[in-house]
Amino acid sequence: MPILRIEHLKKYYGKDPQTTVKALDDVSLSVEKGEFLAIVGTSGSGKSTLLHMLGGLDRATSGKVFVDGNDIFAMSDEKLTIFRRRSVGFVFQSYNLVPILNVLENILLPIELDGGRIDQQYLNEVIGALGLQEKIHNLPSNLSGGQQQRVAIARALATKPSIILADEPTGNLDSKTSQEVLILLKQMSKKFNQTIVMITHNESIAQTADRIIRIEDGRIFSGNAASSGASLL
Ligand SMILES: Nc1ncnc2c1ncn2[C@@H]1O[C@H](COP(=O)(O)OP(=O)(O)OP(=O)(O)O)[C@@H](O)[C@H]1O
Ligand SMILES: [Mg+2]
Repeated sequence: MPILRIEHLKKYYGKDPQTTVKALDDVSLSVEKGEFLAIVGTSGSGKSTLLHMLGGLDRATSGKVFVDGNDIFAMSDEKLTIFRRRSVGFVFQSYNLVPILNVLENILLPIELDGGRIDQQYLNEVIGALGLQEKIHNLPSNLSGGQQQRVAIARALATKPSIILADEPTGNLDSKTSQEVLILLKQMSKKFNQTIVMITHNESIAQTADRIIRIEDGRIFSGNAASSGASLL
């Protein structure tokens, strides 16, 4: 069973038919558990809108999203907030770390907000795999961009979410650091069988993924297996 299923998803902005923006126009898609999927498309094609819908950050005009079998738009706002905290990890271009918390506190924040138990062994594994052992007491302001993004990835992994959604995760990084962060994302996906959906503008970055979906004018117009990325590892 796919971990993520999207059925005939539409998101229209504006009520006036003359000026309505069809940001998503009948998108259907399935993602298997452990898959690392890249979404590519030009600016304004609907990528971020799609990611926001998948993560329940916003509601669709019509259509359904199932995360691990749960119909997320059938949930109340309150339930959806809790579900999102537990089941969806986000990684954004801007890292979004809390500046007054150290690295470890940032990583643990979603678990603590949820009152969940910390799986110490798993946490150590994640911190080790992302090379953050020496930095756990540092504040984000003392880290490089690549290190900050690795903290954001650790934070997203910490809750063992059903899906991790990444919107241009390397958008603020130089090309060498981008490559390193991507290789880590791919390794995390394989090591922890973690499903990751990643948006990118960059074709060579997309090639790292297991599969690439192309979106244009709010519609998926192709999706195929990307195998050439394997050489990056
Ligand atoms: N809140 C909003 N209100 C009105 N229109 C919006 C809103 N959010 C997005 N749009 C429109 O929806 C379309 C898709 O936007 P979206 O942000 O999903 O694009 P994107 O593919 O992520 O672009 P980029 O690569 O520049 O980030 C665009 O035409 C945009 O102007
Ligand atoms: Mg975007």
